[in-house]
Amino acid sequence: MQSKIRILTVVGARPQFIKAATISRFLKKRKNKIIETIIHTGQHYDKEMSLNFFKELDIPRPHVNLNVGSGTHAYQTGEIIKRLEKHIKKLKPDLVLVYGDTNTTLAASIASSKFSCKLAHIEAGIRSFDNSMPEEINRIATDRLSDFLFCPTRSAVHNLRLEGRSKNVVFVGDVMRDSYLYNVNKIKDKNFYSKKFNNNYILSTIHREANTNNIKNLKNIFSVLKKISKKIQVIIPLHPRTRKIIKKAKFKLGNIKILKPVPYLEMLNILKNASVLITDSGGLQKEAYFSKVPCITVRENTEWIETLSQGWNTVSPPNFPIRFYKNILHAIKFNKKNKHENFFGDGKSAEKIIDFLIKNL
Ligand code: UD1
Repeated sequence: MQSKIRILTVVGARPQFIKAATISRFLKKRKNKIIETIIHTGQHYDKEMSLNFFKELDIPRPHVNLNVGSGTHAYQTGEIIKRLEKHIKKLKPDLVLVYGDTNTTLAASIASSKFSCKLAHIEAGIRSFDNSMPEEINRIATDRLSDFLFCPTRSAVHNLRLEGRSKNVVFVGDVMRDSYLYNVNKIKDKNFYSKKFNNNYILSTIHREANTNNIKNLKNIFSVLKKISKKIQVIIPLHPRTRKIIKKAKFKLGNIKILKPVPYLEMLNILKNASVLITDSGGLQKEAYFSKVPCITVRENTEWIETLSQGWNTVSPPNFPIRFYKNILHAIKFNKKNKHENFFGDGKSAEKIIDFLIKNL
């Protein structure tokens, strides 16, 4: 009898839990062929950023939590590599599975590359072409080390071709779309937020280092949000880092409604009923696109270029607050009947990834 394929999934940050839940759900269906072990690096550790997602999305209990916690990029990445090494040595996986672009992704890729196991990157080929973003470095290095590159979009495949990669580069679609389609129907009180806020509110999330660690940018963002909140309710489920910084800097928030980080289904519910999303998150830009909610991305650029099509998403750098404000007013009036193409696959990317691995490992 052929032995089972041993997969080691390494996750650590909130968006990775969502993606891993989708793959794990599908891996269970192939349990006659594959055994999955999950390691949590502990990059995200607050209950609302971590444990709650495992419970809500029914993700199998991690084999171990490396409890790396917060620190500089070098600290976080280095500690994960060090702490992961002995587990890879002991578990001897055939494949290590990593997601997205966080320090956890990069660290697990480096750690596994020193062993004879293969490495698969889910969300491969995404590029912002902005090397000042830690996420861009994490993406490029992870792709370079990966044996299997699962791309969420055709443009990601193209990016990898330009870098000379074509072997085991597969367009599978986006696991976040799988996740969205699977979970969106599970939302219970679908009209809760539209009733609560009179069918008229803006959802916002801000957590990127380029915004939170640049006080001028952060001030610009919050002063525009405060101004807009005089016209329309603004709701912000706040990342713990942003919360700490705005508290320390004593920002005046006016009518802005601040929430703790919310569970995944609640986030989808708030988003689906929102008039506009204002964010610097990568994942939420896509979820807004799936939900047909116009988005303003408060950054210099976006790696999710497909969401820009037909004006569904607008990049608005925080150092131009007047333009940012005007863009929000424009987005409020956006015609939601505008053309909306699907670039992110058919919602079956998990199935495609697992089947490809079974055939090719
Ligand atoms: C990380 C990813 C980013 C992703 C985001 C999703 C990297 C380089 N960045 O950013 O791409 O969009 O996750 O949320 O990996 N903190 C807490 N509690 C927590 C987690 C974080 O208080 O549970 C605070 C700490 O002050 C910490 C800071 O947030 O220093 C930054 O957290 P970190 O995990 O390093 O990166 P994120 O900003 O969350």
